[in-house]
Amino acid sequence: MLQKLEEVKKEFESGISSIRSLPDMAQFKADFLGKKGKLNALMSGMRDLAVEEKKAFGSKANEVKQVMLAAIEEQGRKIEVEQINAKLEKNRQDISWTDKITDLGQQAAGLHPITKLTRELEDIFLSMGFDILDGPHIEDEYHNFEALNIPESHPARDMQDTFWFKDAEHLLRTHTSNIQIRGMEQKKPPFKFVGPGKVFRCEALDASHEAAFHQLEGMMVGRDISVQHMIHFLRTLLSEIFKKDINVRLRPGFFPFVEPGFELDYECMLCGGKGCPVCKQVGWVEGLGCGMVHPNVLKAGGVDPNEFNGFAFGMGIDRLTMMRYHIDDVRHFHSGNLQFSEQFKAY
Ligand code: DAH
Repeated sequence: MLQKLEEVKKEFESGISSIRSLPDMAQFKADFLGKKGKLNALMSGMRDLAVEEKKAFGSKANEVKQVMLAAIEEQGRKIEVEQINAKLEKNRQDISWTDKITDLGQQAAGLHPITKLTRELEDIFLSMGFDILDGPHIEDEYHNFEALNIPESHPARDMQDTFWFKDAEHLLRTHTSNIQIRGMEQKKPPFKFVGPGKVFRCEALDASHEAAFHQLEGMMVGRDISVQHMIHFLRTLLSEIFKKDINVRLRPGFFPFVEPGFELDYECMLCGGKGCPVCKQVGWVEGLGCGMVHPNVLKAGGVDPNEFNGFAFGMGIDRLTMMRYHIDDVRHFHSGNLQFSEQFKAY
């Protein structure tokens, strides 16, 4: 009988590792340990044994039963883990944003060209020691106008240009110049920073006008800063963007927050100054507004104009991006058309 018990045990051991599902396991358990199972069948033969043998067999059979129960539990756990892993594997989702998305019938677009150029501009300024600041899109009248020395009567405040909120105190910023004030409020001179971002004006849209567009503001404040410093930084910037030496010229320009104020033009990089449709045959492109920071603006930012001075500039990013990537209509930028932004993957 002990021999038979040993055989049943062997049979059990060789069978259990091939069980792969919980129902099969339940069946397997019943085959060996159930009422009509193999172990019980053996036990029922015990009554023919002598008392001593009965005892010996009984305890051996019990031992085997315990071993079997433990093995069943262990194998059951293995099956559960296997099943959970299989489920996880089956439902695996690749959430990384890669070209694999095309498998789902969608397309991965590149970075938006405005984002690309903005990042490039930031890198250039970082390499020249400027900080990068941010400012709010929803701004108050003080930071967008008043602190920038823009009087209430100035046409820039006009209802037609500015998106005002109902409270008549807040607006969508019309330029990134609010970052000048926000930056000065945070910093002690000397400092230099740039702030890129979206700006909003109530404009009729056409190929070169958008109601939401992008600017980059810059400001450098310290002691004895001159127009010459300003020209140096702006020329370096443009040469880095276009990857060649770029000539610039200054024309007088009026902006309430600078005195003197200038418009800086740069040589049209498409025709090299010879004249082409993009520069309207003049060879120069209007690049940006700039000038020496008005004392009233320094004061509004908590900077003493008797001790410090500086320059500021504001440039449009959209047209620069259009020139850089040969884009012919500003309305592409906000079209949401992935086929448009997809083209810049390679750049
Ligand atoms: N804020 C001006 C605009 O939106 C651009 C500008 C001109 C910014 C001269 C400046 C500046 O900082 O000095 O048209």
